[in-house]
This record gives sequence, structure tokens and C-alpha cells, in this order.
Amino acid sequence: MWVATVFIIVMFCFAFVLLFGAPYVPTLDAQMNAALDLLDLEKGQTMLELGCGDGKVLIAAAVRGYKVVGYELNPLLALIAWLRTRRYRGQVKVVWGNFWAQHWPEADGIFVFLLDKFMVKLDMVVTAQPNRPIRLVSFAFQIPGKEPVVTKDGIFLYVYEK
Ligand SMILES: C[S@@+](CC[C@H](N)C(=O)[O-])C[C@H]1O[C@@H](n2cnc3c(N)ncnc32)[C@H](O)[C@@H]1O
Repeated sequence: MWVATVFIIVMFCFAFVLLFGAPYVPTLDAQMNAALDLLDLEKGQTMLELGCGDGKVLIAAAVRGYKVVGYELNPLLALIAWLRTRRYRGQVKVVWGNFWAQHWPEADGIFVFLLDKFMVKLDMVVTAQPNRPIRLVSFAFQIPGKEPVVTKDGIFLYVYEK
């Protein structure tokens, strides 16, 4: 009985996210490293990850010396990300919630792996951020009608100037 209950809770956590955003699919290590290379932030600069999954990108960014804030809607993944990043607690913050509904801190870079249908809204929200310039890397999905500054290995870099 409890196995079925746990299974239903886990399924629910992954399914309800689909109402608000992209499903959980982790970025492969090679693409993650290529994306962080393209982002090319300085140590101490701040990166946001919109939909941080299990926290692997947060850890890789922290290892590079970035301050990182990761938003994750799925409570199980948010908990896993929080636990996995605990040794970087001064550098990494995991926020459980819908990133569209959050006030984003000043950031130098943003990492996303979302879906096509969210890219226009993302572009509008990033454009409206007062704290620019911002470098945005998107794995797999482009912003319609906007030319990336660099395209490499399925990763698209956009730069929002002041
Ligand atoms: C394709 S996965 C990418 C995970 C991670 N960024 C990576 O690259 O390994 C997208 C993640 O975003 C989360 N997500 C989708 N929409 C969200 C939203 N509106 N707010 C917070 N998290 C969201 C999903 O739960 C999922 O973990």
C-alpha cells in the first residue's frame, strides 16, 4: 500500500510541473560544460538557473566560482538539488517554486533548458530585467526571431546589453 502511495506522490510531483513548464530531462555533462563555457562568467558573478532539476548544473557553476540561484518547481527535485548543493551553501541557493512568479535577483548570466513554447516569454522577461547586461544560454531551444551571438553544440548564447 505504501509503495503505491509513494509512487503516486512521485508521479504527481513530476506530472504537475507539466502544467507550468518543461518536464525534467537532465542536460548531458558535455552540453552543460559547453553552456557554462559560453556563459563565460567571472568568479563571484551570479547565475540563475530557471528549472534547476537535480542541481547538477548548480554544482558545476559553483565549482567555477559563480554564485548561483536555482529555481525548481518539482518539490522532490528541489529537495535533491538542495541536498546535493549543501556543501556550497554560501554560494548556491535553491528556491522551490515557479520561476515565472519569483523576483529574480540581479544576475550576470542565466542558464535554461526549457521548451520552445516558453522562449518568447523568457525573452520578454529577461529584456525587462533592470539589471543588465545579462548573458543567457539556452540548451536546445532558440528564441524565435532573435539571432544568437554564438551557437555551439546545440547551445544558444544571447546577450542582453544595457
Ligand atoms: C528540461 S529540465 C532541465 C533540468 C536542469 N536545468 C538541467 O539542465 O539538467 C527542466 C526543469 O525545469 C523545471 N521547471 C519547469 N518549469 C518550471 C517553472 N515554471 N518553475 C520552476 N521550475 C520549472 C522542471 O521541473 C525540470 O526540472
